[in-house]
Parts: sequence; structure tokens; C-alpha cells
Amino acid sequence: MPRHSGRSGKMSELLQEVRVFAPASVANVSCGFDVLGFALEQPGDEIVARRKDEPGLHISKITGEGGVLPTAVEKNTAGVAAQKLLEHLGSQQGIELEIHKKMPLGSGLGSSAASSVGAIVAINRLLGSPCADHDLLPFAAEGERVACGTAHLDNVAPSLFGGFVLIRSQDPPDVIELECLKPLFATVVHPDIEIKTEDTRNILRRDVALHKAVDQWGNVGGLVVGLLKGDYELIGRSLKDVIIEPIRSVLIPGFEQVKNAALNAGALGSGISGSGPSIFALSATRENGHKIAKAMQQRFDEIGLGNEAYVCKINQQGPQILEER
Ligand code: HSE
Repeated sequence: MPRHSGRSGKMSELLQEVRVFAPASVANVSCGFDVLGFALEQPGDEIVARRKDEPGLHISKITGEGGVLPTAVEKNTAGVAAQKLLEHLGSQQGIELEIHKKMPLGSGLGSSAASSVGAIVAINRLLGSPCADHDLLPFAAEGERVACGTAHLDNVAPSLFGGFVLIRSQDPPDVIELECLKPLFATVVHPDIEIKTEDTRNILRRDVALHKAVDQWGNVGGLVVGLLKGDYELIGRSLKDVIIEPIRSVLIPGFEQVKNAALNAGALGSGISGSGPSIFALSATRENGHKIAKAMQQRFDEIGLGNEAYVCKINQQGPQILEER
């Protein structure tokens, strides 16, 4: 949960401004549609919350997204999350938000979740931390509802809590933080196309054949046990998705080749990151993570699809307070 890396303000004086880093995340993790996710060390959004004399919440600046995101609070995911928190607190404090996007939109990296989490963590801190960090989750989930029509938690929970999480229940929220006994490195390659989560949810079938459900929940159980025991082999053989990936992968040019390239380069497993188009792979070492990234990028290059890669350890700390004054 939020750690402080910048100058620390005195809580006895009112803070005037707080800058927070909130991490990107990989949701679903192959078998765990809407129930599994983990946070990345990079990339992540930066959000600034600042006290203002004028009442109300305003978004004064958004950078890094080419001018496509709305500054109207009620249309902006971070704005909605922040507004819900302020309503819950009954706060009349005027607040201005700056949103600095440091990751592509519609990428499968939990971009909207990172902004929502950053906004509520920054505001909560600015107001003297009236909410316990874990109690902020429902407000971030409301931002997700604006972004893609459902308040699923598999991006917001890892972005807020850090680490690997299991959403045992969405409503009421029951989020279990999973500790992996061994180091895990994520490689995420983002091809230069945009996919809207809402669209990729709408193409999914509403019913699931029982034999596929059996495969899927076997793999979810296997992945959770693999993480808790630090059993790389079990993690690898559980990273399978027989329900969602076959439908969504057709939207990602070169998906099979890129996934196979990751596996051939030594990945424990690979699949669609969130609703795509990014593709993730997990590995046991940073060195292997870079090797896997190179192999995956090569496949995208071969089909002429621009791409960028991130290789990092799983982010255990969640949001970070970068500066406050
Ligand atoms: N679980 C979500 C989905 C993650 O796959 O639609 C993306 O927001």
C-alpha cells in the first residue's frame, strides 16, 4: 500500500498537494477471468491532487494521452472514483486533479484503473488519510464501471494493493492477496492497436460448457497453489485459458505466434493481458524476461505491428506517494 518515497510533509499541517504513482496491472492472468490480477513495477500513471479555495472537484490537466480523455469529472474514470470518495467522506474541500498518463489507453494494462487508484490515494492522503487504504477499493471500482460498464476488480485491486490478488467475491468485495514464494518477472508486450474492454466483454459468450469450466477452475486452483508454494512448474501448467482467450485472441494480430515465441523463449506461461491487446508472459528471472520480450517483439515486428515491451518484477507495494507538501 502507499509508501512514501519523496519529501514527507507534516501531517499536523494541512497538506496542500500530493503526487502519487499508481501501477499498471495484468488482469485475468490466463485462467482467472475477472478474479486474478497482479501489479507491475512499470508503467504507471501519476496523479496530483491539490487543495483549491473554489469548492468542488476539477480536473485541471491531463497529459500523455493525446487529448482524448474527458476533463469533465463525471465522464472521467479517475474523476468519478474521486467524486465517490469525496461524497463518502462528506468533504466540501475544493480539489484540483492532474492526471499524467504514462501508459497507452485501451492497452490491457489497466490504464483506467491506475488513474482511478492514483486519484483516490492522492485525495485520501491530501485529506489526512481518513480512509484506511483497503477501504478505498469500492471507489476505484466505480471508476472502472465508467471505463467499461462493469465494476470488476481485477485491475483496481492489484493496482491498489500491489502484488498478486485473487478476487474471491466481487460483491461484496473479498480480495485475497497471494504471496508468491519465489521471484516472478512479468514481460508485457503492447502492440500498437487499441481494444476497448467494453467491446471485448460484449463478444464473450454468456454460457460456458461444463467441461471448459472444469478445466478453468482446475487451472485457477493450480495457479494459486503454484504461487503460494513457489512451484514454477505448476504455475506454468496452470497458465491456460480455455474460455476467454480463444474468443478474444482473434482480435490480436499475430497472437498465436507471439505467445508461442514467449513459450519457446522459456516463459512459464503466456496469455492476453486483461482484455488485450497486450500479451503477458511470466518467468523466473529478469534475464529470461528480457529474452522473452525480444522474442515476442520480433514476431510483432515480422507482421509489421509497432510494439513496446515492459519487463519488471511483480510490484509488491502498489501505489507510491512520490511527493507531498
Ligand atoms: N477482467 C477484465 C476483462 C479485465 O477481461 O474484461 C479488463 O478490464
